Amino acid sequence: MNDEETHVPVLVEESLRFLQPERGGVFVDCTLGAGGHAAALLAAGTAAGRRPFTLVGIDLDPDALELAGRRLARFGARLRRVEGNFHDLEALLAGGLGRPLPPLAGVLADLGVSSMQLDTPERGFSFRFDGPLDMRMGGGPVTAKDIVNTYSEADLERIFREYGDEHQARRVARGIVEARREAPIATTGQLKAVVEGAKTAPRGHHGREGRVDPATRVFQALRIEVNQELSGLGRFLDQAVRLLEADGRLVVISYHSGEDRIVKHRLRAMARGEKDRVTGRPLAETRLIEVLTKKPVRPGDGEVAANPRSRSARLRAARRL
Ligand SMILES: C[S@@+](CC[C@H](N)C(=O)[O-])C[C@H]1O[C@@H](n2cnc3c(N)ncnc32)[C@H](O)[C@@H]1O
Repeated sequence: MNDEETHVPVLVEESLRFLQPERGGVFVDCTLGAGGHAAALLAAGTAAGRRPFTLVGIDLDPDALELAGRRLARFGARLRRVEGNFHDLEALLAGGLGRPLPPLAGVLADLGVSSMQLDTPERGFSFRFDGPLDMRMGGGPVTAKDIVNTYSEADLERIFREYGDEHQARRVARGIVEARREAPIATTGQLKAVVEGAKTAPRGHHGREGRVDPATRVFQALRIEVNQELSGLGRFLDQAVRLLEADGRLVVISYHSGEDRIVKHRLRAMARGEKDRVTGRPLAETRLIEVLTKKPVRPGDGEVAANPRSRSARLRAARRL
């Protein structure tokens, strides 16, 4: 793959505005990917840092770490790469660097998959190519093929509805269970055909699904289940806030309503703090953060036109008190 044909980073300016890398210190990019956000952070932090600037870049995909390492080589030892799952951020930082870190100046998580992952047929993320039904971002134990061929009809329906906002979740789940009675569903092409066969046609261009491919939501839901993307998110947010220094910043970019809901509620709860048992009033000293985004920040029309993948992005930011 040509290094230039990689992931286009989303909401970069906005991320920098909240993270303020020019303050210097240690920042963690939990989703290094192709290193787009990391490059912008390193450039801004290196140029103006009052304190030395270090970026720890995490990814559970070794291919992403390798690519980012090549693309960011010019920053030398300012970038430290760590392979692992950011759901276990504290343990990962404690174990992966071989030395304790000071409190963090900023944490960024740009959730989901990268364009490189989507565009590599053997990874099995996309219905645009035929490939094995895999969808693991790292070396996890469960593939999409396992889920499609072993989950009950009710569980398939639930994940398609909850993680894919799939309006025809029941039909699709039934279609899969019927198809797999004949033979296991092993490839992305086979699954796409089963989904398309099971769904009724969307109501023309004005239908709810508009121009989105009928298989899109089912593939998204399976990817979220394979990588347990939602179950670890709340745990990650708690750890990130614990690790921040006073005035340290947290920025999370999500691409799915379920993800954004978790981020919104968890940040709100940490901003509110605990309540006094007698008066019911929030206890000021238990407030951990200030939320900096009343509403999520969305990409402008220009960014969406230039990078359609950004259209569902929502950024939320907080500041450690
Ligand atoms: C949307 S891409 C990030 C792109 C990056 N910001 C850039 O500018 O190139 C998400 C990346 O996060 C990684 N990732 C997703 N979930 C992860 C997790 N729980 N732990 C570690 N990495 C994860 C994926 O492997 C992917 O490379």
